[in-house]
Amino acid sequence: MVMLCNAEGNKFLFSNENKLVESWWPSTFAKIFANPGKTISLSEDTLRFRKLLSPFIKLDGLQKYYIGVMDTKTKQFLQQHWHNRETVMFHHMAKKYTLELGCTMFLNIEDPQELSKFQRIILKISSGMYAVPLNVLGTRYWRAIRESKKLQKEIEKIIKQRNIEILAESLPTEQDLISHLIQETHRDGETLNEADVAHKVFGLLMGAYDNVSMTLVSIVKYLAELPEVYDNVFREQMEIARSKAAGELLTWGDLQKMKYSWNVVCEALRLWPPIVGTFRVAKTDFIYEGFLIPKGCKFHWNAGATHRNSEYFPNPENFDPSRFEGNGPTVPFSYVPFGGGLRLCPGNEYARLNLLVFIHNVVTQFKWEKVFPGEEIIYDPILIPVKGLPIRLFPHEVTNHE
Ligand code: HEM
Repeated sequence: MVMLCNAEGNKFLFSNENKLVESWWPSTFAKIFANPGKTISLSEDTLRFRKLLSPFIKLDGLQKYYIGVMDTKTKQFLQQHWHNRETVMFHHMAKKYTLELGCTMFLNIEDPQELSKFQRIILKISSGMYAVPLNVLGTRYWRAIRESKKLQKEIEKIIKQRNIEILAESLPTEQDLISHLIQETHRDGETLNEADVAHKVFGLLMGAYDNVSMTLVSIVKYLAELPEVYDNVFREQMEIARSKAAGELLTWGDLQKMKYSWNVVCEALRLWPPIVGTFRVAKTDFIYEGFLIPKGCKFHWNAGATHRNSEYFPNPENFDPSRFEGNGPTVPFSYVPFGGGLRLCPGNEYARLNLLVFIHNVVTQFKWEKVFPGEEIIYDPILIPVKGLPIRLFPHEVTNHE
């Protein structure tokens, strides 16, 4: 395995995707994320899916329909789970919030029982993904494989139902991801393979679940630890809140004004990228930096190490959102929380909107402190707060419009 921990290495891998290298996952992951449809090769499958997905997940689609949905859901979530509580276990809450939002946006699931069913399944998959890969009855790994099949079946059921609604022309105008995908597939004149679509939506739900929730954890941790950073975010968000009429939802224009808050998110992602790195495999023999790389050789690129390199980020351990002012990091491929090239995370815009909408709502309604001031976040092997990040809440007395 070749470890690449710098900007040049990232650039090499990202710009040689599907030429000299391709994506590779350890077989333990491949079992959990196996595609039961398997009608086309993985790379064809990914490219075609990205094309179908782009109007929904790319900024245009998200701006047009979904910022308001995200805002409404976030307000409801805080009302239901945060108000009238003195403390919340933030990691748990962030996962619940991210999943509920993903289920609404992707699948239009609102029923609390259905939501808890999905949450139970996804929790088991997530906790088995990095467990000892012993595929024996009753282990966490075995359970993750079983639950991933169950989740794909559940999503397929929803797809079948949407297909019926589409044929009966009884769909609401505001559509979830699945309806969009089915319609785009019909428009392409292609036959819909329900298993393929279910498999991809499963990937999106899992992608959103751990990554967005862990980014929220690091943001909330830093906002508790650094009062001057919190105050700057608060000022920016209150200015936006005050400019709106009572009950008016956030718009794309509002999100564009959240420049300082976005720099805070970028800095949290620099110090604690939820995906520390992924893998590639050599498709053919080639020479890299004077070394012969044989076909089949594995590479690991590492965002965590690249982001803490003082050549690119002076005083790399300091939390300093001003690094992202102006054009941000100057060395190409030195800042790669979402990867790069053909495999750049397809959910990056969704993540951006989701994180900013959450920050707006939580900061305009609450200040908070860590119950355990010294609590750290660590990679074990995925990013987690060691005690679940309990926080003590202090609701603001002013409302958004005062
Ligand atoms: C802060 C949040 C997120 C971060 C930091 C993040 C980061 C990443 C990274 C580093 C990769 C791997 C790229 C590679 O191997 O080169 C990836 C892949 C992926 N992400 Fe995200 N992600 C986030 C949120 C999301 C969201 C919200 C979704 C879904 C809406 C999503 C869906 C995916 C999918 C489906 C892939 C696999 C793409 C492929 O194999 O071609 N991610 N993400």
